[in-house]
Amino acid sequence: MILVLLGPPGAGKGTQGERIAERLGIPKIATGDVLRAAVRDGTEQGLAAKAYMDRGDLVPDSVILGIMKEVLSSPAAAKGAILDGVVRTVPQAEGLTTMLAELGRKVDRFLLFDVPEDELMKRLGGRVVCDSCQTPYKGLEPGTRCEKCGGNLVRRKDDEPEAIRNRLKVYEAQTAPVIEWTKEKKMNLHKIDATGELDDVTERAMKALEEPTK
Ligand code: AP5
Repeated sequence: MILVLLGPPGAGKGTQGERIAERLGIPKIATGDVLRAAVRDGTEQGLAAKAYMDRGDLVPDSVILGIMKEVLSSPAAAKGAILDGVVRTVPQAEGLTTMLAELGRKVDRFLLFDVPEDELMKRLGGRVVCDSCQTPYKGLEPGTRCEKCGGNLVRRKDDEPEAIRNRLKVYEAQTAPVIEWTKEKKMNLHKIDATGELDDVTERAMKALEEPTK
């Protein structure tokens, strides 16, 4: 199954993507994590992406589609993948669809995580992430150790208030049109309420995946 997670920054795509991946036994691939690792490793791709990411702007489509091509043709994605944070523009959606068609595959479902904006601001303002495995946490201080891998918990540069505001604007301008695009193309889009307890959100997501496809 190829599952695309859509939703604004802080909607819980990373948190729920991990849980859904575990349930379905397929990997979760997050373009944000791939890019942050490239920044950390100081690769050419990372150096090119860093300024966009720190401001909360989108990295150019060509870079993202290059990453997706590599990821989707790798053996790890042979049984399927959960794509977190891609697609974020209509050209990315079109590029991904074409790329998958060339591999004889398609996006099976889009899951749209719905959370009101004031809740998003609260979540992102209070988030720390592991600088090693990228697991997000709330209610912990930077410098605490990651429960999963022992890495160091840090605040993301794009979780500063100005960058959060920009990311939300960018989402409305460039990513929200992808939702209309999925409707025009008669894709399987499921919107779920992503507020409340983590387990409840996971159950809503799993239930949506059981709905009949078009
Ligand atoms: P990326 O890392 O993808 O960031 P994002 O989309 O802004 O999403 P976030 O990681 O901020 O949020 P999330 O929805 O995963 O929520 P999370 O689970 O962490 O991208 C970063 C940057 O990379 C982009 O700005 C761009 O520059 C670049 N980039 C990446 N992909 C790109 C692409 N395709 N095209 C172009 N550029 C790209 O949860 C948030 C917080 O809330 C956590 O603290 C969590 O513990 C908490 N939380 C989760 N669920 C709940 C709940 N139910 N109740 C209470 N708290 C909750």
